[in-house]
Amino acid sequence: MNDYETISQMEPEDTITRPMLVSDIAEGRLLLTDGETEISALIFDREFKNKGIKKDSVADVTITLKATDEQKKYFVENISPCTDPEQSAKNYYIKFSDISIGTTFTRPVIIIDMTEKKDKSGNPYTELTICDGFSNVTARKFKTSADSLEKINVRKDGIARAKLTAGEFNGAKNFTCEDITALENDSPLTVNAFVRVPPVPLNVMYDEIYSVLKSLDKKLFGKYDSIAELTLKILEANKESYMTSSAAVSNHHNLKGGLLYHSYRMMKAADALCGVYTSLDRELMICGAVLHDIGKLWEYNTSILGGAEFTENGVLFGHLYMGASYIKESAKDGNYNKEKLRMLMHMIVSHHGNQEWGAVVFPATAEARMLHMIDDMDAKMYSFEDNYNLMEEGTVTKEKIKNLDTNIYKPSIMRKDILIP
Ligand SMILES: [Fe+2]
Ligand SMILES: [Fe+2]
Repeated sequence: MNDYETISQMEPEDTITRPMLVSDIAEGRLLLTDGETEISALIFDREFKNKGIKKDSVADVTITLKATDEQKKYFVENISPCTDPEQSAKNYYIKFSDISIGTTFTRPVIIIDMTEKKDKSGNPYTELTICDGFSNVTARKFKTSADSLEKINVRKDGIARAKLTAGEFNGAKNFTCEDITALENDSPLTVNAFVRVPPVPLNVMYDEIYSVLKSLDKKLFGKYDSIAELTLKILEANKESYMTSSAAVSNHHNLKGGLLYHSYRMMKAADALCGVYTSLDRELMICGAVLHDIGKLWEYNTSILGGAEFTENGVLFGHLYMGASYIKESAKDGNYNKEKLRMLMHMIVSHHGNQEWGAVVFPATAEARMLHMIDDMDAKMYSFEDNYNLMEEGTVTKEKIKNLDTNIYKPSIMRKDILIP
């Protein structure tokens, strides 16, 4: 989106062509946004609807600005469906994280969950967990039962158009839902295109993991197959689910592609730390980071929205055991060095650090201990990032954050009023 000229940069008589979201269609006019500025533009082309231009679609638009001292007028010179596959409608609506407290706005949201509750006087209200494609927030629709929302086709796992007012609760943004309606039947918005994904594209992360492993794939002592080769084989056999699986039911990385994002960041951290702690076996560290949560592919079912639920085997065996046994099974046909394979499996079954957190045994090698620390580090960093996303600068949460054991503060580096204790 950054490479295009923006509407706000336009001078009188300027013409620009760029992808824009058609946020509404009125008689002879289109409401258009480049993600920063929303304008109403006159359109003379009566055939635009036949080209597939609909409300909520991204289009390649050419607009001209005519301005007098009193007013600015925008004209649509040309419009056609967007050809850039990187453009997605979700990038154009105002994000929950960018909304200031006290503002009311309307935008499409995915309904992750809907729960009916009762207020102090016993009136029903519905608590909605909604997603803008980037973060999940809670919105309350007062004096409304879940049933009455279902009746107007507003339901879990669907998209709806919501009018929301941003408020604050417990140091984080929370929202009141003023109004909510189902999308028009012919809306181009799909749940799949709207889903929350990690900040790095899934294929970029996968390709980088792949090439790092490929660079490590060398015979050990000139005769054994490398465990990097084994890791590659496991990834390729499970590529689709490895790329889209969530990493948790709640807690850290609970989004579509969360497992890949977590494994990717851990691989990069492992690689960097091998440059400091040079006695660590780099191949074990990289393969351990990439495979440590592989058992989650069978521990959870990830929905199209990235929500995860435990499977039966997940409940019965957990991802440490399932991961280690899958690796053992996958290694059956290869000529791997037994000790190296044993060390990799030890890393998998001990990566939760201690039995209280689900580890089968304590980490007993330097690589296993380091893997546990990187795992813990990545989960904690994610918690900060996820919470910061919805916090105002210079504020503290009113409650402790679950896996950080403390209330957290979002620094404001611009503040001048802070006295260092
Ligand atoms: Fe794990
Ligand atoms: Fe993990």
